[in-house]
Amino acid sequence: MKRRAWKIEKAGRIDRLRLVEETLGSLKPDHVRVRVRAAGLNFADIFALTGLYSATPKGAFTPGLEFSGEVLEIGDEVSSSAIATGQRVMGCIRFGGYAEVVDVPASQLQPIPESWSFEQGAAFPAQTLTAWYALSTLGAVAPGQLVLVQSAAGGVGLQAMAICRALGAEPIGTVSGRHKKEFLAALGYEEVIVRSTDFAKQLDNLLSGRPLHLVLDAVGGKIQRQSYDALAPTGRMVVFGAAEYTPGKNRPRYLSSLWKYLRRPRYDPLAMIPENKSIMAFNLIWLWDDMTLFDRLMGEVAALELDPPHVGKPFPFDDAPAALEHLRSGQSIGKVVLTL
Ligand SMILES: NC(=O)c1ccc[n+]([C@@H]2O[C@H](COP(=O)([O-])OP(=O)(O)OC[C@H]3O[C@@H](n4cnc5c(N)ncnc54)[C@H](OP(=O)(O)O)[C@@H]3O)[C@@H](O)[C@H]2O)c1
Repeated sequence: MKRRAWKIEKAGRIDRLRLVEETLGSLKPDHVRVRVRAAGLNFADIFALTGLYSATPKGAFTPGLEFSGEVLEIGDEVSSSAIATGQRVMGCIRFGGYAEVVDVPASQLQPIPESWSFEQGAAFPAQTLTAWYALSTLGAVAPGQLVLVQSAAGGVGLQAMAICRALGAEPIGTVSGRHKKEFLAALGYEEVIVRSTDFAKQLDNLLSGRPLHLVLDAVGGKIQRQSYDALAPTGRMVVFGAAEYTPGKNRPRYLSSLWKYLRRPRYDPLAMIPENKSIMAFNLIWLWDDMTLFDRLMGEVAALELDPPHVGKPFPFDDAPAALEHLRSGQSIGKVVLTL
């Protein structure tokens, strides 16, 4: 079967990405073939294309960690009660999502809730699992706790804000622009900081003596350090990204990244004992090696019955470079998706 897919011969520059036609071999017995209707973009795609992501494949690869679509064909070993031809599904994939057709193990697919669009389905799995794992599994969030969510209007951020609300925790968002604060206010999130050079003071003013229990950080640098410093005793910080190293339009900003790396915050576990604070970090890509945990987390997330995720901007499949640039710019709100 022929398909078109976005492909890069070797990570390094985003403008090496090309739309190619290729032939898919026969379907593996434990796999399902899906006609992709929407592919979700993740910030990790930008880091993978520029070679900054630890899990970047060595040679040629197709980016994309999640998608939604319709089942075209089912492998011989897949239980017929689990999935049906024509079914609307959403799924995760370890690279390869920016394609018209994908083959994935059946265990990586979930049905899309009936009232959701394909775009909403493609916006859900990776970012919601990330937010859930950070808040719940590692962050041990509890009702009434104050949670600081960096980049709260982004894909992961919006899902984290929604999960906090669903669990009765009190989220405080941070964003880089007023338009994002206004967007969050329209959703009923009143406590949002537009980060300035004096973030520590902004946070202190907003907290006005209330204890901060949990921080979700994927920005890094001074913002991360000042957030950690604001944590109350027993507070936790969960780190899962470093957007401050975002590449330039096509390739890494080597010099400024090196400067930031040399000045990155460092933490002393011995000091954390008397302070009663902790830091945790993770990369969800390892979940591909533990599908039992993946299934459990997906089940936990489904039980929250969250509203569909916010798709900020859909782009036609052929405009993947423009979609990537929109996400990279830091201006996007919610999820950026490619539609087919
Ligand atoms: N470890 C994991 O398993 C895992 C999984 C998923 C995502 N992540 C990480 O979580 C973060 C959010 O991912 P996402 O896909 O949902 O992306 P996103 O939040 O929709 O977009 C990234 C956001 O990063 C913020 N940002 C901060 N500094 C930036 C800079 N110098 N340049 C551009 N943007 C900057 C921007 O929001 P503001 O400026 O408003 O803050 C931007 O909108 C990313 O850092 C990603 O790598 C990690």
